[in-house]
Amino acid sequence: MLDWKTNSSLAAGKGATVQQFVAILGDDRLEAEIAPWGEGHLRINGRDIARIDDAKNRRQAFREIKKIAERYAETHMTKNSSLTLPAVKAKLLEGKKGLIVGIANENSIAWGCAKAFRAFGAEVAVTYLNDKAKKYVEPLARALEAPIMLPLDVNEPGQMEAVFERISKEWGKLDFVVHSIAFSPKDALQGRVVDVSRDGFAKTMDVSCWTFIRMAHLAEPLMRKGGSLFTMSYYGSQMVVKNYNIMGVAKAALECAVRYIAAELGPKGIRVHAISPGPLATRAASGIPEFDALLDKAKAKAPSRSLVSIDDVGVATAFLAHDAARLITGETLYIDGGYHIID
Ligand SMILES: NC(=O)c1ccc[n+]([C@@H]2O[C@H](COP(=O)([O-])OP(=O)(O)OC[C@H]3O[C@@H](n4cnc5c(N)ncnc54)[C@H](O)[C@@H]3O)[C@@H](O)[C@H]2O)c1
Repeated sequence: MLDWKTNSSLAAGKGATVQQFVAILGDDRLEAEIAPWGEGHLRINGRDIARIDDAKNRRQAFREIKKIAERYAETHMTKNSSLTLPAVKAKLLEGKKGLIVGIANENSIAWGCAKAFRAFGAEVAVTYLNDKAKKYVEPLARALEAPIMLPLDVNEPGQMEAVFERISKEWGKLDFVVHSIAFSPKDALQGRVVDVSRDGFAKTMDVSCWTFIRMAHLAEPLMRKGGSLFTMSYYGSQMVVKNYNIMGVAKAALECAVRYIAAELGPKGIRVHAISPGPLATRAASGIPEFDALLDKAKAKAPSRSLVSIDDVGVATAFLAHDAARLITGETLYIDGGYHIID
């Protein structure tokens, strides 16, 4: 809530023609000018932002202007806070170094994970898909103070290897990897599973499943003292979720790969998990038709009656990277407000 104060340098009170109110939000100065005949102006840092001229009276004009200002304050807060790391007292992951793959923008699940790992004191290396994506990822990498930021398109031969080589040279070890990428060609994703082409199937499985297997392979020699590997899955791997289609098949394979790799690398102290978040409005999700309906259903049905955020996913994943979770492996952990237990 903004705290509005009467501007003492202007006439105020019932008799005054125009009243001015001021609220301060961070570095911004918001000014509301309200006239008794129902006209109102909102100015932010001297710039005209909104005007109301059809209110019944002064009171209604002020109410409308306040509403617009509150909306501004809300977006302003989210805009600025999206680059802020969560406040965490204990640096439980101090000394750990990890790779986060899959940050496209500040809505990405990978960004939620990166923020949480960093807030707990870990150092993170990040990748970006290509030059077009770089400008969105760069400010986020800066906020994370990431010492390594490299391009990674898993379809480009040699790029995955180059990322791990650079990590090996710079850090000589790796404690965790977050694999948070998936892809399916539109006609494969949006069609029936029974109709999927060989090429659509292969591309979906390749990017969404095999790349995790390969990253585990490349990480293994760097995790000499153990470590943890994470990949993002979804409930559509277990149940038929409308419109999830071939991606459900890929996620089922991914969760299965997690179990096999957990068994194979467990003796070396490397733990492997699939994280299964509830639906989140990200860029990848925008490729799924009727996604809003999925969000509404998740909110209505989940025991928590709330949608999850990327920060919820991030802190839960970071917890699993902590030594306290050393005997937990091979899991598919649902971060979905309990949605998956309800019929
Ligand atoms: N959003 C959801 O509702 C939801 C729910 C459960 C699981 N997931 C999973 O979470 C993961 C992250 O997705 P998100 O929702 O954060 O969306 P997002 O669009 O922010 O992230 C997807 C990432 O995949 C990357 N990617 C795609 N093709 C690539 C390639 N060839 N090489 C390298 N990177 C590539 C993109 O660059 C992007 O960074 C995906 O595995 C997704 O299936 C998402």
